Amino acid sequence: MSRKRLFLLMLVAVAGIYGCVKTPMTEKPGNQSSAVAAYFDRCADEGVFDQFSPEELIVAKEILAQMNIRPGDKLAEAGCGAGRLTEMLAGLVGPEGKVFAFDISPRMVERCRQRGLPSQVEIACASAIDIPVGRGEFDAIICHNTFPHFDDKPAALREFHRVLRDDGVLWIVHSRSREWVNSLHSSIGGVLATHVLPDRAELERLLRETGFSLELLHDLPDRYLLKATRGS
Ligand SMILES: C[S@@+](CC[C@H](N)C(=O)[O-])C[C@H]1O[C@@H](n2cnc3c(N)ncnc32)[C@H](O)[C@@H]1O
Repeated sequence: MSRKRLFLLMLVAVAGIYGCVKTPMTEKPGNQSSAVAAYFDRCADEGVFDQFSPEELIVAKEILAQMNIRPGDKLAEAGCGAGRLTEMLAGLVGPEGKVFAFDISPRMVERCRQRGLPSQVEIACASAIDIPVGRGEFDAIICHNTFPHFDDKPAALREFHRVLRDDGVLWIVHSRSREWVNSLHSSIGGVLATHVLPDRAELERLLRETGFSLELLHDLPDRYLLKATRGS
């Protein structure tokens, strides 16, 4: 079997795990955000993002180690899903820290609440373009497997800039390469078809225009890691 064919077969298999083969998109264009929420509501009902696979868990731990999160940190997790990373973040910031975990999908938020996370975690149903907190609240914002799904990326980045403290940090991370993520979304199609993790040049432009500086970008076969700092 050719490598290309093998790659396509793997994508289709993962799309099934992602809960998308069983849940074809039927929403009409026009309200992109509610279509995205409806899509992930179905994923939540199927338990798609409840747990990490053993391989993903190793990568997630390594990514978190690189973030150097400390007890007492105040974090926002954009698109927390069912809370599998939120739980790890809560352990790292400890009882004196805070994790504000939010998601646009009401069913994901419900699933996250059912996890019974400790009191340093606050969970909200909200969009990345309208985060219900004041200015300068967070030391860091983490987008784990989420950034491509923001339909208005400049608006989301402007909102992250508003809620981060002066030298706060934005992390955009994935447990796969950019090419893999983009291929997966285009193979799933429907509302996800245009959910792209932009290339370096485009991200640099988006970050610059919204007041961030790119600090590092690692695009590896098993992970994607972007760190940007907020300018004042
Ligand atoms: C692929 S899932 C990842 C969930 C979680 N970060 C994880 O890795 O388990 C993407 C999540 O982003 C959420 N999402 C998409 N667009 C959003 C937006 N504009 N604001 C907040 N959350 C959003 C979805 O509802 C979904 O739960």
